[in-house]
Amino acid sequence: MLELRARWTLVTGASSGLGQEIARSIARDHGGNVLVVARRRERLETLCEELRSKYGVQAAFITADLSNPDDVERVFTEATRERDIHGVVLNAGVTYWGEALKLDWGEFQAMLDTNVTSMVRLSTLFAKHFIERKTEGGMMFVSSVSAFIPVPYQAAYSGTKAFILSYGQAMGQEVRHHGVSVTVFAPGGITTELLDKAGLSNRFKAGDMGMMSATECATHALRAFIYRKELYVPGLLNQTLALAARLLPRGFLAQRTAVMYRPER
Ligand SMILES: NC(=O)c1ccc[n+]([C@@H]2O[C@H](COP(=O)([O-])OP(=O)(O)OC[C@H]3O[C@@H](n4cnc5c(N)ncnc54)[C@H](OP(=O)(O)O)[C@@H]3O)[C@@H](O)[C@H]2O)c1
Repeated sequence: MLELRARWTLVTGASSGLGQEIARSIARDHGGNVLVVARRRERLETLCEELRSKYGVQAAFITADLSNPDDVERVFTEATRERDIHGVVLNAGVTYWGEALKLDWGEFQAMLDTNVTSMVRLSTLFAKHFIERKTEGGMMFVSSVSAFIPVPYQAAYSGTKAFILSYGQAMGQEVRHHGVSVTVFAPGGITTELLDKAGLSNRFKAGDMGMMSATECATHALRAFIYRKELYVPGLLNQTLALAARLLPRGFLAQRTAVMYRPER
């Protein structure tokens, strides 16, 4: 098992949603210190104050834009300068909703850099760091059930999540003999700002079948992380979807999913 108590875990995308609740759970339920990363400084500051005062852990933040390669390098350098990092949760991510042909090129590039490139770079740097220091650390990559199913109108986003699923499971095999674990966490719908920003919050709402709160989802994520699971899909409906994706033709799944996501519905 991964021991988080009194050790440092870095969490990206912790200024809201799932990342924020993962950071809270590490401090509250596991007595772990957290180093949180995102662009919105004020939110990170407030979270760190809360975690220190309520749970008596150490908490620090780095503001960084993970779509910027220089910021990604700086996150690693600053994170490891004065701390022994033992856990890394690469959760930051962005999405969009709409036709692939209308997706702005800059928006696509920023999504690819945030969801994929920063994850590959940070996971590579931290895995090497763990191996050199003989730290039997853990990493968790936040993917999505959309990694299993081609999602029309989120085509590029579901592609980034499929990359994370494949990369994470494969990389995990390469580093496990060093005692380093890689957990791919693939949730379904979570009621967070992500859905608001994409304009999807009217279509997928709290209380709808399969939707989870960020707090509930973070509890699942932490369990998977500390038990060093290779892949974890939280919730029965999401698990059924992931299983169906293995059994049913992908074309059929894409067709059915298009009906749910088509903007003019
Ligand atoms: N919500 C869902 O239904 C759902 C379903 C499956 C998977 N997921 C995945 O879960 C993860 C967390 O999403 P969420 O739902 O919690 O969304 P969220 O509330 O929008 O949180 C996203 C986090 O990522 C950070 N972030 C975004 N772009 C960034 C950048 N360029 N540099 C640094 N940080 C950046 C945001 O912080 P700043 O804006 O402050 O930078 C924020 O803290 C994502 O990887 C998402 O793909 C979400």
